[in-house]
Amino acid sequence: MAAAVRCFLMVAVGLAPLLAGAAGGKLSTRFYDSKCPSLQSVVRSATAQAVAAEPRMGASILRLFFHDCFVNGCDASILLDDTASFTGEKNAGPNANSVRGYDVIDAIKAQVEASCSGVVSCADIVALAARDSVNLLGGPTWTVQLGRRDALNASQSAANSNLPGPGSSLATLITMFGNKGLSPRDMTALSGAHTIGHARCTTFHDRIYNDANINASFAALRQQTCPQSSGTGGDATLAPIDVSTPTWFDTTYFENLANKQGLFHSDQELYNGGSQDVLVRVYMRNPDIFALDFAKAMGKMGSLMPSADTPTEIRLDCKKIN
Ligand code: HEM
Ligand SMILES: *[C@@H]1O[C@H](CO)[C@@H](O)[C@H](O)[C@H]1NC(C)=O
Ligand SMILES: *[C@@H]1O[C@H](CO)[C@@H](O)[C@H](O)[C@H]1NC(C)=O
Repeated sequence: MAAAVRCFLMVAVGLAPLLAGAAGGKLSTRFYDSKCPSLQSVVRSATAQAVAAEPRMGASILRLFFHDCFVNGCDASILLDDTASFTGEKNAGPNANSVRGYDVIDAIKAQVEASCSGVVSCADIVALAARDSVNLLGGPTWTVQLGRRDALNASQSAANSNLPGPGSSLATLITMFGNKGLSPRDMTALSGAHTIGHARCTTFHDRIYNDANINASFAALRQQTCPQSSGTGGDATLAPIDVSTPTWFDTTYFENLANKQGLFHSDQELYNGGSQDVLVRVYMRNPDIFALDFAKAMGKMGSLMPSADTPTEIRLDCKKIN
């Protein structure tokens, strides 16, 4: 009997890496269960504190995760500061003066280090904080696969080329997400993240002055704080991406699209007579379906890994390599 149990355990242990490998990496929901049992509660409470102090921070952390994962995988490369001899991702076009939340991640990391030194990656902290941010703002929750490692390098050029811009067409969005193994359905679900957060005038100026498929009263409203004369150059004045509930993670983003109130050209591309129109209406009417698809797509995005030969470590300070 004891031998049989031991034999079974050996088989199970032997198979585990194979099964995880088939799921796309060696991540596991229980990765820190023994190494750092307090991890999830530390991240949750620190994220809750940051979001309570400033609800937009939840949106900023969610976006930070997206911008990490789309550039050589979820490896915390986005968190590395530039140095005299190193140019990272923070100052890439899609990130500079735009991505926020670095200080919050650094602060959470310091708290995690205090209880579990040198075992938890910055990349996993971002994945957990993004999940908690969504949930704290009223959205779904899900179990996060863990065991990511932190990169020793970053790529400004990959950040410039792998992240879609707000002027993207539907075809471009589908291609860019497809390049990451994400389906059009995943792309539309993930775009639902724009139910929270704010954007600078420069990112939607063209849309509110030049697009045809925009709600006229919505365009007029946004034009009030994003003047034509500001051009697309530098105006940093913020507007909520979701016109009705920018600090609540719901499905009004999809309602907005149906009302031609998408803030970015790329948002409205999801509902402009193309392949995603039906899905936008499904999400708009069925918050539960959106919640399930969003959580599933976040899991897929979160399992994007750097290439196997990329050197990695567990960074001690998320801003710099050890
Ligand atoms: C589909 C392609 C996407 C495009 C073209 C896009 C573009 C943008 C742009 C231009 C901004 C405003 C940036 C600024 O003003 O500085 C923004 C904000 C934001 N994006 Fe996206 N995004 C996309 C997908 C995503 C995805 C997949 C997520 C997360 C799962 C996400 C989450 C956010 C959030 C939460 C904000 C607000 C951030 C804040 O308030 O700090 N976006 N996005
Ligand atoms: C870091 O990445 C850059 C660009 O991707 C590359 O040119 C450089 O050689 C890399 N540095 C190291 C130490 O791997
Ligand atoms: C414009 O938005 C309003 C909601 O603010 C909506 O009632 C109206 O139907 C929209 N118009 C169009 C053409 O979608």
